[in-house]
Amino acid sequence: MTEQADHWNAKQYTQKAGFVSELGQSLLAWLNPQPNERILDVGCGEGALTEKIAEVGSTVVGIDASPAMIAAAKERGLDARVVRSEEMDFNEEFDAVFSNAALHWMKPPKVVVAKIVQALKPEGRFVAELGGAGNVAQITTAIREEMADQGIDADWHHPWYFPTPAEYQQILESQGFSVEQIELFERPTPLPGDILDWLTTFGESFLVKLPMTQRQALLEAVRERLRPLLCDAEGHWTADYVRLRLKAKKTKTKTTF
Ligand code: BEZ
Repeated sequence: MTEQADHWNAKQYTQKAGFVSELGQSLLAWLNPQPNERILDVGCGEGALTEKIAEVGSTVVGIDASPAMIAAAKERGLDARVVRSEEMDFNEEFDAVFSNAALHWMKPPKVVVAKIVQALKPEGRFVAELGGAGNVAQITTAIREEMADQGIDADWHHPWYFPTPAEYQQILESQGFSVEQIELFERPTPLPGDILDWLTTFGESFLVKLPMTQRQALLEAVRERLRPLLCDAEGHWTADYVRLRLKAKKTKTKTTF
């Protein structure tokens, strides 16, 4: 799920971000898994959607960079493995590759896509959703501005990759895919609780340079910046999500890493 040290807590993730897999359920219709198929779930997290794929009778393998998430996926009885996507080494063994809300953590995207091509059988399909261009723009702007105002070195590493459809289609085609569908759409996403939970769960990468003692105050200040933008009169928060969803077919076997 992330390129950084494993800071994931599967129980906390399920409580605070269970909506991620709930919203990803409609992507399963795009995948349309079949009982006799072998399917790879890239960035499977705690395995909520991997389990849904397994329930139709497909043989599914989930991979994720986070040992904590993989431990949680294994508790569901899944074949789940700690593997970084850019290092996976499957060879033409899957009918389909699936990924929900994970590819935006994985860089460089061209290598990840090449590894996905390599994992697929000829004519295999790739169905995925990730954050697209403009995703969480208001949230990241608020973090950046608050850090700048507090005189904190704002030269942080942006942890995510949110491509435009044209940019991602170009990468897919360069690695041997033929793109059947690709869509960018806004999905304002109601959060189950306070935006502080979202910032704490996902904002870690922005805070690495800050001492622990300053982090809470910074996040609370970010929350106040965001309140007029993302919180309604009843105190309900909505994240400014933008999704990129795609379906592609492997049409060439040659890959470049
Ligand atoms: C997303 O699913 O769009 C997302 C999740 C965490 C951090 C950034 C983006």
